[in-house]
Amino acid sequence: MPSNSALFPRNFRKNYPVAVRGEGCWIIDQSGRRFLDASGQAAVISIGHGVAEIGQAMAEQSAQLAFAHTTQFHSDPAEKLAHRFLALAPPNFRSGGRVYFTSGGSEATETAIKLVRQFHLESGQPARYRVVSRRQSYHGSTLGAMTVSGNVARRAPYHPLLAEWGHIAPCFCYHCPFDKKFPDCAIACANDLDNFLDANDAPSVAAFLFEPIVGATLGAAVPPEGYVQRIAEICRKHGILLIADEIMSGMGRTGKPFAIQHWNVEPDIILVGKGIASGYAPLGAVLVAPRVVEAFERGSGAFQHGFTYQAHPVTTAAANAVLDYIESHKLFERVQPAAEILRAELSALSSHPNVGEIRGLGLLVAIEFVKNKSTREPFLKEQNIAERIRQATLDQNVLTYPTQGCVDGINGDHILLAPPFIISQSESAQIARALHSALQKVFPT
Ligand SMILES: Cc1ncc(COP(=O)(O)O)c(C=O)c1O
Repeated sequence: MPSNSALFPRNFRKNYPVAVRGEGCWIIDQSGRRFLDASGQAAVISIGHGVAEIGQAMAEQSAQLAFAHTTQFHSDPAEKLAHRFLALAPPNFRSGGRVYFTSGGSEATETAIKLVRQFHLESGQPARYRVVSRRQSYHGSTLGAMTVSGNVARRAPYHPLLAEWGHIAPCFCYHCPFDKKFPDCAIACANDLDNFLDANDAPSVAAFLFEPIVGATLGAAVPPEGYVQRIAEICRKHGILLIADEIMSGMGRTGKPFAIQHWNVEPDIILVGKGIASGYAPLGAVLVAPRVVEAFERGSGAFQHGFTYQAHPVTTAAANAVLDYIESHKLFERVQPAAEILRAELSALSSHPNVGEIRGLGLLVAIEFVKNKSTREPFLKEQNIAERIRQATLDQNVLTYPTQGCVDGINGDHILLAPPFIISQSESAQIARALHSALQKVFPT
């Protein structure tokens, strides 16, 4: 970090190169060094860096109308984008669904928490306010979003500020919290929601919030068949809303527009962010199913919530241009074949004694590192394995996204790979080579 920096950094002990240009799957810093963006930054970049059409669409919108406050106006780009999102969503959203745009994922989570609370007020159930979620989850950085996030390490410093609404077991077959194996487990982790509700004042619960495929905190953990369906069934049984956090998994990253569509489940609310504008603009959104919308229409008529920059004409114009690009280049269709190539390139790494599992769906992939492959024992947190792998991979000019805590919130190391959908075979091969060399460096024989 240059001593004259005025930026409050993420980490005062780290040096950050200055990024000046983006091209496809690459970021170039001010010294001209080129980095292959294997993680799409943080699973943000879907169409690739440096697509000139997006900037042009934003400039045109900005020249025509940069801003109009949503208490006074709606705008065409936001209206158009809302229709497009609902058309991509599960069938229950399509006739009468609505979209609430925010400036990012955390604001979307925050909005959903207040939305489900007010939904129950509008529906004559004022006792319902708690949003139950899962341990080792992450749903955003603001205080409401942190309250529902179950990640021990991220919650720890803010513990006194956070409400305790309850967290159930994660769904994580590689480190099953019940020490069971699918299918003999009978999806005990889904039934944990039912048991939790029975034992913990179910009539005060407004909603259950989960990531259908857990991105950062567990490392692309895909649930077994039947999990998502069972969760939806339990929510219906208890009269609570189901919120799918697709901020990382949404907009095509797992091979369908929304990850929950792999199981044909219809949630009441879907949260998106990150990939919807592919990093060209800060944008998140809350997709709201008609039955929730109708409660507001029939009831007070007004959601007691709002952000100055919600549904911004320029950020929604950016996302429309991103979606145009996705459609004209058939990028949703490209995810599956690109994922197969990436997984094939990575497959040789599986035999390494410290590579526990390579998992994921589509272009949301993680590699977990373990101390002992047969017992799946993690390394000690202090050994900092995920960060060391990231650094060693970076030495080969490849960017990855490391996280610790997948096993119990503290221990467990993985890196996430979430490249742009345009990743080529040679770029996938380069990622695999960089990881191979990182493994040799971090685990010398
Ligand atoms: C699943 C999930 N939810 C919410 C968020 C928060 O989004 P943002 O950082 O845009 O506020 C993230 C960010 O990593 C995420 O991965």
